[in-house]
Amino acid sequence: MSSQINIRAAKVCDVDGIEALLTPYAQKKIVLQRSKDDVFQHLQEFIVAEYNGIVVGTVALHVYASHIAEIRSLVVNPDYQDMKIGYSLLEECEKKAIQLGIDQVFALTYVDQFFLRMGYGVVLKETLPHKIWTVCIHCDKFSACDEIAVVKHLSL
Ligand SMILES: CC(C)(COP(=O)(O)OP(=O)(O)OC[C@H]1O[C@@H](n2cnc3c(N)ncnc32)[C@H](O)[C@@H]1OP(=O)(O)O)[C@@H](O)C(=O)NCCC(=O)NCCS
Repeated sequence: MSSQINIRAAKVCDVDGIEALLTPYAQKKIVLQRSKDDVFQHLQEFIVAEYNGIVVGTVALHVYASHIAEIRSLVVNPDYQDMKIGYSLLEECEKKAIQLGIDQVFALTYVDQFFLRMGYGVVLKETLPHKIWTVCIHCDKFSACDEIAVVKHLSL
């Protein structure tokens, strides 16, 4: 099946699919809710995994500063998990960061083991740029965030 999975930059026609992928996980507070408007406005940040014309996975790269960007909105459709799609999306996101000249990516996550397998290390949230809290403030768990911060240094 993996040969039929296409990892590519998101297009406007993917917005409904991206929102549909994220919504169930946003309802479980695993990722932040992204409205269609929000996805449209940040479309250039998104990468998708497509299988037979269906968007089965997505991830976004949000740049904060010259040296650091966040891996956001990483989700794979449950029917397509454990097929290395998450790995491929993350790898593509890291390539995108390198192309942009960014040497450090981070994520706030509950699946720290997934990121550790991909070469990330756990860090204290306090070491992340303060700017990230401008997004976190929209999260219900802002005052009691229990996500784990993971960081990877990229070779430019
Ligand atoms: C996390 C997620 C994106 C992984 O996608 P996936 O396509 O199933 O993962 P892959 O098949 O690429 O797995 C790559 C490796 O990570 C491991 N892995 C996958 N999901 C994992 C998880 N939830 N916890 C720990 N390890 C995990 C796999 O076993 C595999 O390891 P291996 O190479 O030793 O076999 C997917 O499970 C998902 O959408 N989860 C719900 C949303 C979520 O938590 N997103 C992360 C937000 S930061």
